[in-house]
Amino acid sequence: MESKRVAAEKAVAYVRDGMVVGLGTGSTAYWAIQKIGKRVKEGLRIKTVATSIQSEQLAIELGIPVLSLSEVNAIDVTIDGADEVDGDWNLIKGGGGALLREKIIAASSKELIIVVDESKLAPKLGKFHLPVEIVPFGANLTRQKLHELGCVTSLRTTQNKPFVTDNGNYIVDCDFKEIEQAEELQTSINLIPGVVENGLFIRLAKKVIVGYLDGSVQELN
Ligand code: A5P
Repeated sequence: MESKRVAAEKAVAYVRDGMVVGLGTGSTAYWAIQKIGKRVKEGLRIKTVATSIQSEQLAIELGIPVLSLSEVNAIDVTIDGADEVDGDWNLIKGGGGALLREKIIAASSKELIIVVDESKLAPKLGKFHLPVEIVPFGANLTRQKLHELGCVTSLRTTQNKPFVTDNGNYIVDCDFKEIEQAEELQTSINLIPGVVENGLFIRLAKKVIVGYLDGSVQELN
């Protein structure tokens, strides 16, 4: 928890007056939102957009101004977590099921700062099963097509029912073991009818900030 907090708080130092800030989702982004809330109370003047209903609610509770995406033309900086980060700063995201909104916001952010604890660093992507958001219609067929790409699939569930995303979709978690060609894979996945988006974030991160168990924090170069 401490390692997540220190990484998140270091990232918030990049937030300045007048910015539009993307709020990430998950237990690391939580600390960034908390810190932003403190700074807003101290007088920081910003607007934000949220990558999930959960983060939006937290921000509102903390008194952070949240806009809908239709109200902004550009996002200056987004601070978000990740499930895996490789040596090229490519990511797997979506462990919390927010990957679609996260990717829409990341793709339109001038800067995406990724905040993680050291456990997320990996030489290769794939140990963390890749989340893929699919529409409920024809879910079994879409899952079969994902399987044909060479992975073991499982439909994410909660309380014995399919997990439903903020967008009303399902998540299939795909075990590819090691992902060799991430860029090609994301294209192949997104070409399957019924797939909405996948959790590979390729060349989107501009900064990666890592928190360690001893409380130290490092910005990767
Ligand atoms: C949410 O869907 C995810 O992409 C999160 O950003 C990711 O799972 C990291 O979450 P934690 O910070 O909770 O590990």
